[in-house]
Amino acid sequence: MTKPILVVTSSYPKEVEDRIDRDYSARRKQDQLPLCPEKLLSAAEGADAMFITPADRLDSGFFQKVSPSVRIVATYSVGFEHIDLEAAARRNIPVAYTPGVNNEATADIAMLLLLGASRRAYEAQGLVRTGAWKPLNPDMLLGWQVGGKILGIFGMGRVGQAVARRARGFGMKIHYANASELSAEIAGDAVYHKDPSDLLRASQFLSLHAPETPQTHHFLNSRAISLLPPGAIVVNTARGGLVVDDDLIAALKSGRVAAAGLDVFENEPRLHPEYVSLKNTFLLPHIGSATIETRTAMGMLALDNVEAVLNGRAAPTLVPGRSREIV
Ligand code: DGY
Repeated sequence: MTKPILVVTSSYPKEVEDRIDRDYSARRKQDQLPLCPEKLLSAAEGADAMFITPADRLDSGFFQKVSPSVRIVATYSVGFEHIDLEAAARRNIPVAYTPGVNNEATADIAMLLLLGASRRAYEAQGLVRTGAWKPLNPDMLLGWQVGGKILGIFGMGRVGQAVARRARGFGMKIHYANASELSAEIAGDAVYHKDPSDLLRASQFLSLHAPETPQTHHFLNSRAISLLPPGAIVVNTARGGLVVDDDLIAALKSGRVAAAGLDVFENEPRLHPEYVSLKNTFLLPHIGSATIETRTAMGMLALDNVEAVLNGRAAPTLVPGRSREIV
C-alpha cells in the first residue's frame, strides 16, 4: 500500500522520526533553512499533509495556490501566528497545533530567565569564563531578590499557570491579566487585573505568556514600560512580537527596566543586535520547549493530528477560531 506523502520541513527527536518513516513517504528539505514560499508550494504539490514549524510562514498567498491534495497542516508549536487561519479556512484545510504539552518545559525556562536576569547571570558567567573574577568583593554583581516581589503574568493560560506554581515556590506574589478571570480553584491566591495596565503598574517582575495576535502585538511598548515600577525585570518566553524591541532596549539602557530575560525575539533568529551588547540581558535561542520529553510529545501530537485527518477523523487539537482569548 502506498504511504501518504507528508511534507516535513524540519528534523525531530528519534521517536518522531521513526513514526514519520514508518507511516509516511516523507518529503524533506535538504538543508536547515526555512523554505521560501515558492519551495513550500512546490513541496506541497501532490502531498497529503504538511508538518511544519513556526519557521515556515503559510500566508494567504500560500493557501490561494496550495495543491488541493493537502488535507491538513500540522504545526509543531502551540503558537500559530505564522499561519493565515482565515485563508486556510477558505480552502477548507484544517490547521492543527500542539497545545498542552510544552507548559512545564517552557515554565522552567521562564524561571531560568527570571533568575538569570535578576541575578545577573550573563555578567557572572563572563567573570568566571574570562578569568576576570577577583577575590570576593561584597558589592560584586548585586542582583535583585525575587522572594516577596510581585510577579505579573500577562496571559494566564497553561504556561502562565505553570510559571505561577514555580514562582510561588520562590516566595513571589502572583498577579495576572487574562481575557477572563480564572476560577478560584485555578487562580488560588493570584490577583486578577482585568485591565493589563493595572497589571503593569503592579509588576516588579513581568513575564509574558500571551500568544501573538493583532491585540497583543507590540504589547510591551514605551507606554506599557512607563507603567512598570522603576527597575522592573521583564521575561519573555511567549513571542518576540509582543515586545517593541527599541522601546525595551531604551529602557534597559536607562535602567528604567533593570534587566530582561528573553527566549524569543521578533524576527528571530535575527534578533535586535543591541540586546546582545547589553549586560543586563540574559538571552536564550527560543528553547522554551526544548527537552527531549516535550519535543517528542509535540511531534507525536502533531502526527496524531495528521493521522486522524488522513483517516477521516477530526484532528484532536485543531487551532481554535481566530478570536482567541489571551492564553
Ligand atoms: C511553541 O510551541 O509555539 C514554541 O514556541 C515552539 O515554537
